[in-house]
Amino acid sequence: MAGKIIPVTDQRTLEAVPSIPLIQVPATGSVADRLGRPLNDLRISVTDRCNFRCVYCMPAETFGKSYTFLPQTSLLSFEEIVRIAGIFVAHGVEKIRLTGGEPLLRKNIEQLVSMLSQLKTPDGRELDLTLTTNGSLLAKKAQALKEAGLKRVTVSLDSIDDATFKRMNDVDFPVSQVLHGIDAAHQAGLGPIKINMVVKGGLNDHEIVPMARHFKGSPFILRFIEYMDVGTSNGWKMDEVIPSSEVVRCINAVLPLAALDANYAAETAARWRYQDGSGEIGVISSVTQAFCSNCTRARLSTEGKLYTCLFASGGHDLRALLRRGHSDEEISSAIAHVWRARDNRYSELRSARTAGLNQTLKKVEMSYIGG
Ligand code: GTP
Ligand code: 5AD
Ligand code: SF4
Ligand code: SF4
Repeated sequence: MAGKIIPVTDQRTLEAVPSIPLIQVPATGSVADRLGRPLNDLRISVTDRCNFRCVYCMPAETFGKSYTFLPQTSLLSFEEIVRIAGIFVAHGVEKIRLTGGEPLLRKNIEQLVSMLSQLKTPDGRELDLTLTTNGSLLAKKAQALKEAGLKRVTVSLDSIDDATFKRMNDVDFPVSQVLHGIDAAHQAGLGPIKINMVVKGGLNDHEIVPMARHFKGSPFILRFIEYMDVGTSNGWKMDEVIPSSEVVRCINAVLPLAALDANYAAETAARWRYQDGSGEIGVISSVTQAFCSNCTRARLSTEGKLYTCLFASGGHDLRALLRRGHSDEEISSAIAHVWRARDNRYSELRSARTAGLNQTLKKVEMSYIGG
């Protein structure tokens, strides 16, 4: 009989509770890590669940019926999330991105958006409050999210061809419904909307030009993402990565492109515009041209662990500090201490050697930590 498999050790819980420094470190609005990188972005995963089973992220073989998702009691409450976020903002965070899993599956997500939208930078500015979604629930939720104070959304969409899209999401979800969600978000004023397409060789690389053609001339910014060796369950292989240079070459051959300057130093995407003036695209080269030297991103997992890199094997348990009754000042000092010690630059160090170790290194899944 096939029974439910309960893992002896749960990789998700390989974490340390950060120590509270003896001397408190007041938040000054700016804290740098060991490589001089400030703490500007916070990505908050609000659920580890998703209604899709994208083959590069939550393959159905691993995330099947017997997979144990986090129990409700492990999740940070909205009050806990907002309290931690406020501390990060005092350290210089200006952009907050809600992620998942699929963040729109979290009950009353609009309420969390509304609470986070009240936070202000130390000099009184509003945050760039955004969300990454697979778009499946966007038609239903776009208006409420806008009214709650969300500024913009980014929608993941890996193909414009229904059959290919269904092969990638692996739950038979039709592309038309995601397009409907994107339109609803546009109508609600959640722009500029970015469309993220992960390109996996042999699966959807034939969709590069059709996707470019579809979104050319629209208000949406299509971005092509190199398939990464994040997590351990996707069975990543280097030869399935389509380098961004190849994506640009393919599109440029039929729809001529010209390079654009970055909007800001830490931007993940290299920008290109259509020479005929009909909009822009972006390419995110996390594998072939790592951008760790500008990485100002911290990630907070659904259960309150702080990860200083997408490829970290362990997080720092902020939830434990909250639930043990530590003060904001103490937690703030602990976060500053973690950030100052940070020296992660996994993608820059990635090599044939680390790629070969992909399946043996303990790495956290993207659905747990958030994109
Ligand atoms: P904007 O705020 O619109 O500029 O978005 P962004 O590019 O910062 O964030 P988004 O979540 O859209 O990132 C797109 C993709 O880039 C993600 O899904 C990842 O594949 C990749 N990515 C984002 N951040 C990181 C990172 O810190 N490290 C690595 N290696 N990849 C990242
Ligand atoms: N490589 C690159 N991006 C990934 N994402 C998830 N898994 C991967 C991977 N292996 C990103 C995609 C998706 C977001 C939710 O997470 O950009 O749009
Ligand atoms: Fe879900 Fe996004 Fe992962 Fe796809 S990439 S399984 S939509 S979290
Ligand atoms: Fe940042 Fe780590 Fe990604 Fe490099 S690999 S950009 S350090 S999250």
